[in-house]
Amino acid sequence: MNSDSSMPTAQRPPAAGDGVLGVSGVTVRFGGLTALDDVSLTAQACQVTGIIGPNGAGKTTLLNVLCGFIRPQSGTISFDGHQLTRLRPHKLARLSIARTLQGSSLFGGLSVVENVMAAAGSQRRAGFWAAMFGVPRSDADERRLRGKAMAALDRMGVADLADDMPSALAHGPRKRVSMARALVSEPKLLLLDEPASGLNESELPGLGDLIRDLATQASVVVIEHRMDLMMSICEQIFVLDFGRVISSGTPAQVQADPAVTAAYLGAAGPAERARDGEEAGDE
Ligand SMILES: Nc1ncnc2c1ncn2[C@@H]1O[C@H](COP(=O)(O)OP(=O)(O)OP(=O)(O)O)[C@@H](O)[C@H]1O
Ligand SMILES: [Mg+2]
Repeated sequence: MNSDSSMPTAQRPPAAGDGVLGVSGVTVRFGGLTALDDVSLTAQACQVTGIIGPNGAGKTTLLNVLCGFIRPQSGTISFDGHQLTRLRPHKLARLSIARTLQGSSLFGGLSVVENVMAAAGSQRRAGFWAAMFGVPRSDADERRLRGKAMAALDRMGVADLADDMPSALAHGPRKRVSMARALVSEPKLLLLDEPASGLNESELPGLGDLIRDLATQASVVVIEHRMDLMMSICEQIFVLDFGRVISSGTPAQVQADPAVTAAYLGAAGPAERARDGEEAGDE
C-alpha cells in the first residue's frame, strides 16, 4: 500500500492534481430556479481560466460554490488533490484559496494597509487572545504583517495609498486594494469576480498584466464581462448560459462558436452587458 499519508508533507511527492481545480456535475438550485445545471470544468495550475456568460448565467454562483459560500445540491469540487465540496469558507485559507467579491468591499474604518493586514492576519497562526482581539502578538508580528501587506500593495501598484482611508479611493485603486487583500495570503487558487468592473478602458491593459503576473504563482479563475480583457489574459474560457456550460476552449475557439454568439444575442449585446456588469459591480 502507498504510505504517502504517513509521510511529512515536505517529503511527499507532488500529487498529479497539484494546483488543478476540478468541478464535476455541480448543480445548484434556489427554489425552483436552477442557477447551475450539471456544470463540469477544469482549471489548470498557474493558468488564467475565464468564466463568461450573460447576466444571470450563474457565474457568481459558481464562484460562491468554489469558495464554500454555497453548497451544491449535487456534484463535486476538488483542488490541489483535496475534495472541497464539504468545506466551510473558513477552512479555505488553509487550502490557500482566496477570492475577491463582485464590487469591492473594504472595511471603511481601517486604512488601506490595515485592510490588507487584516486579510493577512486571518491566515496567520495568532495566539488565541491575540486573534480574539485582532491584535498582533508582538511588535515584530505587526512589523512582519505590515511588511507583507505593503509588498502586496506594491505588487498591485498602490503602495502610495497605504495610509488612505477606503472612502477616499477612486474605483480603480479600490479594485487594486481588493486584489492586494486576496493575494497577501499567497493563495494557490485566486478567484476574481469582475475585477475590471468600474475601470475605464485605459486601465484594462494594466489590470490584464497584473492578472497574468498573478498566474505565475497561482491558478486564477476570473469572471468578467469585458471581452477584450478576457481574450487577452485567459488560457481557456468556459461559457455559461442559464447555468449550463455551453462552450469552452481557447479564447479564439469560444469567440468563433456560434452557440456563444447566440447566447449573447438577446435583450442586450455584449457592449451593453459590459456596461450593465459595471453597474452591478458598483453595488
Ligand atoms: N441567493 C440566491 N437566491 C435566489 N436566487 C439566486 C441567488 N443567487 C443567485 N440567484 C439567481 O441565480 C441566477 C444566477 O445568478 P448569478 O449571480 O450567479 O449570475 P451571474 O452570471 O453572476 O450574473 P451577473 O453577470 O449579473 O453578475 C440568477 O437568476 C439569480 O437571480
Ligand atoms: Mg455575477
